[in-house]
Amino acid sequence: MKHLLSINELSRGDLEELLELARGFAEVQERDIPKVPALRGKTVVLAFFEDSTRTRTSFDLAARRLSADVVNFSVSSSSAAKGESLRDTVETIDAMGVDAVVVRHGSSGAPHRIAAWTDASVVNAGDGWHQHPTQALLDCYTITERLGGLDGRKIAICGDIQHSRVARSNVEAFTALGGEVILVGPRTMLPPSLEGWPVKVEPDIDAALADVDVAYFLRIQQERLAAGAFPTVREYRARYGLTVDRLDRLRPDALIMHPGPMNRGVEIDPEVADDPRCLVLDQVSAGVPVRMAVLYRLLGPGRFDPDQAP
Ligand code: CP
Repeated sequence: MKHLLSINELSRGDLEELLELARGFAEVQERDIPKVPALRGKTVVLAFFEDSTRTRTSFDLAARRLSADVVNFSVSSSSAAKGESLRDTVETIDAMGVDAVVVRHGSSGAPHRIAAWTDASVVNAGDGWHQHPTQALLDCYTITERLGGLDGRKIAICGDIQHSRVARSNVEAFTALGGEVILVGPRTMLPPSLEGWPVKVEPDIDAALADVDVAYFLRIQQERLAAGAFPTVREYRARYGLTVDRLDRLRPDALIMHPGPMNRGVEIDPEVADDPRCLVLDQVSAGVPVRMAVLYRLLGPGRFDPDQAP
């Protein structure tokens, strides 16, 4: 594997191998010194052209815990802010001799373009509405840790599917691992065509939530509401939010997930976000070992054995 650009490049075996590798790195994280020398001498550049808290920080930690050197490239303090093109920026970074570029960009397909301009491995850390493959991996990891796997599990993904790279990646990853995905959201927030999507659509959120193993809520981007995709925040919350009242419709053992950042009081009530069934911080925690697994798989020497790691 040279790059990680999209979940659909990975087979079920690849996904399972990455999750297994992440389990080994989770063990490393439990140690007094949560660090291994696996990527000593490698350099990872974090090139974020869009804001991020979780993804950027966890890639940074993941690379450091593998003993890689990390360079943080920030658009606001780089020559990109002076108008340097994406290609010139990438070729400049490449000329310094780096091993991996982790990129987040507002344009769908930007990481694919970047992969053509550099010899380094490229990891997609979120591009436009297209893909967020490491989010999908950490979500699969979180579900697998709780439920033992995704085979036969029902997962409702609720909210703004149309503009969500998380939804696209997660549909592919969940179904590749044997899950059954139900999409829930207003018609204005579903893609115009779902041809080829291995999903069911359920317009009635209360019907959808009645029998799911996982209720996965997406962030509603306020600008979508402003653009008329839904009349008001209040109405969105009442019809599609995971409110305290709606929590009672879930099975007592159902898991609640959200990729963050959350809009408390819009797609999820504050009390629900703080409910023990809500795994949002488990998802964040999973981000580090999962991203260690991805970087190790791209740049590492071979199979990782936590028992052999110093
Ligand atoms: N889930 C996610 O991608 O969060 P950040 O935008 O904070 O990285």
